[in-house]
Amino acid sequence: MNPVNIDDMRDLARRRLPRAVFDFLDGGALDELTLHANRADFERIFFRPRVLVDVSKRTLATRIFGVEHKLPIVLGAIGSLGLLARRGEMLVAQAAEKFGVPMCLSTASVCSIEEVKGATTRPFWFQLYVGREREVAQELMERAASANCPVLVFTVDQAVSSRRERDARNGLTFPMRITPYNILNMLINIRWLWDVLLGPPLDLGNYRKPGERSRNVLTFPQRAAKTQDPSKTWKEVDWVRSIWKGPLVIKGLLTPEEARRALEHGADGIVVSNHGGVILDGDPSTISVLPAIADAVGGKTKIFLDGGIRRGQDVLKAISLGADACFVGRAYAYGLAAAGEAGVLRSLQILESEMSATMALLGRNHVSELDRTALMPTNPP
Ligand SMILES: Cc1cc2nc3c(=O)[nH]c(=O)nc-3n(C[C@H](O)[C@H](O)[C@H](O)COP(=O)(O)O)c2cc1C
Repeated sequence: MNPVNIDDMRDLARRRLPRAVFDFLDGGALDELTLHANRADFERIFFRPRVLVDVSKRTLATRIFGVEHKLPIVLGAIGSLGLLARRGEMLVAQAAEKFGVPMCLSTASVCSIEEVKGATTRPFWFQLYVGREREVAQELMERAASANCPVLVFTVDQAVSSRRERDARNGLTFPMRITPYNILNMLINIRWLWDVLLGPPLDLGNYRKPGERSRNVLTFPQRAAKTQDPSKTWKEVDWVRSIWKGPLVIKGLLTPEEARRALEHGADGIVVSNHGGVILDGDPSTISVLPAIADAVGGKTKIFLDGGIRRGQDVLKAISLGADACFVGRAYAYGLAAAGEAGVLRSLQILESEMSATMALLGRNHVSELDRTALMPTNPP
């Protein structure tokens, strides 16, 4: 199958992955209301095209924190990409380098910061979780700085873990529940079994001390719990700010008050994000809250948005409503699961061609020309 859009890529990922792994990537919290709202609200926004404009020299190139990238897109932090393809994080970093967009490596990745650094010459961003052990977070920041990561993305929307019912049904819990169905399902996905499960040991590489042997894949949920600390407050933002010298982006904000507060605490950017519908079911869609946040802090900080981006048009809608660029999550992760590095590249090409054609039809030559006049005034947000 030749994937012509991100939904095709998702179908390929579904065929390639064991059920439990696909559901971990694809699913959301509880009733998945937020997961679906992220998409549905994009689908209710319509463009206001402009014709007879010379768009023959249009470009999608965008400067983010002083660096020019091919698209206004960041490959956002997805934990455990190494479960989707062997050494998945390294493959994503290599695709990001070939294509010319930034990748943001998750704290909860299978490959460590140092392994990813060894796989690419293009600087990648690092996403930080601050758990109970502050010294671990401090060490992660130091390791990211030593690896020349230019930007730190501090994720703040995960005070506790959410209940993901697909994972609960599939036994992806702590402790993991291994059932005959799970085992059979893994065994029949021969390509995945060979590529991932029989590959190098799987654990969360950033939590391994230098020289420490890899832990068993069954320690995943226990280690993932280390990313959380329900006692965290804005003091931790100050603490991170005091250590991290480069651009700091706060990820997981949905209200103008908190966006303003992030600026007061020294953030250089924010990600309007509901974690892809994975954390609080009932969060609003990100695109619906973007305009009020852009009104509050636009121009004073970089605004990124993620959640539900499956078409190049979604990125352009977000930019028209005040985002500087978008993070994509599942859109590239489906590509990784479907076909490794080539799949990530294909996802990016799909988004790029959709964006390029849409820019032409909107009569815009550069994304900086996009504002609310590119959308119908009656759109819901
Ligand atoms: C399986 C999965 C794992 C994720 N892991 C992380 C993570 O480790 N750190 C983080 O900040 N966000 C994480 N996120 C949230 C993404 O960075 C991003 O906010 C979300 O995927 C955007 O929505 P989209 O997938 O619809 O594009 C994860 C999301 C999913 C679906």
